[in-house]
Amino acid sequence: MEVVILPDHAAIAAVAADAIEALVRLKPNAVLGLATGSSPLGVYDDLADRHHAVGLSFAGVHGFALDEYVGLPVGHKESYREVIRREFTDRIDIHPDNVHSPDGAAEDIPAACAAFEAAIRVVGGVDLQLLGVGTDGHIGFNEPGSSLASRTRIKSLTDQTRKDNARFFDGVDEVPHHVVTQGLGTIMDARHVVLIATGAQKATAVHDFVEGPVAALCAASILQMHPHATVLIDEAAASGLKLADYYRHTYANKPPWQGI
Ligand code: F6R
Repeated sequence: MEVVILPDHAAIAAVAADAIEALVRLKPNAVLGLATGSSPLGVYDDLADRHHAVGLSFAGVHGFALDEYVGLPVGHKESYREVIRREFTDRIDIHPDNVHSPDGAAEDIPAACAAFEAAIRVVGGVDLQLLGVGTDGHIGFNEPGSSLASRTRIKSLTDQTRKDNARFFDGVDEVPHHVVTQGLGTIMDARHVVLIATGAQKATAVHDFVEGPVAALCAASILQMHPHATVLIDEAAASGLKLADYYRHTYANKPPWQGI
């Protein structure tokens, strides 16, 4: 796991966007895993800017959302399908048919989850998965106690996550209790995972998943087992890390050709 401590959200977004641009230029039919929430928004802005300014094309790219609420009406502005469309895919030239989300409105949720997993397999798997992390260490909506081998399925949100996400709704009571989410096994199949975390409210989760034990109690800790996981954080999110100076030194002395 590579930990990169950067000055602010803009610098983090630029490093993540550089990695995505390099991937898409090398592999025009790349498969991106798309997170929602606040953490990836700067990356989407940066990529949309590159699309308009230098013609970075996503015409052959596929995108797979990480998760979706269960119980929101189709088209609800906070459904993750809508958020991904508004914040990213409507701003670039990706084909709408190439953007996939787990279906939180399906009558048969297990069948819809299996179809979502199959759709990822059909395009050859995810090349780069963007992630945020919850204050309780979740990635996707794999809450504490999630199976480290889980696949896309329905989960219940913790009270903490519902409170954290209440800012997107008219109060916590409006936040659904259930979600469908890529499993930890699904996320671990991505060839490169790039996790973004900023702010002091993420410092404990960052310490726990980077330097704590691998344990279902902190789902993101499974990334310690990933062969190519990059953690992009600001100083506040890094404030609980024991080895912060080592991570700074390593990144500062990295050969420029290496990328993340
Ligand atoms: C979103 C997702 C979640 C968020 C996490 C952090 O698709 O899967 O794991 O990444 O809750 O959210 P923010 O970035 O809003 O702090």
